[in-house]
Amino acid sequence: MSQQIRFGLVRPVLALPVLLASFAASGQPGEVTFHRDIEPILQKICQNCHRVGGVGPMPLVTYEQAPDT
Ligand code: HEC
Repeated sequence: MSQQIRFGLVRPVLALPVLLASFAASGQPGEVTFHRDIEPILQKICQNCHRVGGVGPMPLVTYEQAPDT
């Protein structure tokens, strides 16, 4: 299966925390940054598995590793 098709599936999954983060950032809607809003979510619930050497198929630790939405 090509990389393009695989990332087509990844994007909607990562869009969810982006949407949740934009609701959670009370008082400052609109501006969502990876470092402030997304990274803590990934760290809390994804990086147990999605890190180098983890059971997940790809790491989700840095901005470069997370597919963009
Ligand atoms: C309990 C461990 C665990 C956690 C926590 C976890 N994952 Fe996964 N994830 C996996 C494993 C294992 C696979 C591979 C499943 C397979 O290939 O059948 C996977 C696969 C995926 C895939 C599909 C990758 C592909 O190209 O096929 C995505 C996207 C993904 N995870 C995103 C996330 C996100 C986003 C989070 C946090 C919200 C998360 N995962 C949390 C273990 C985990």
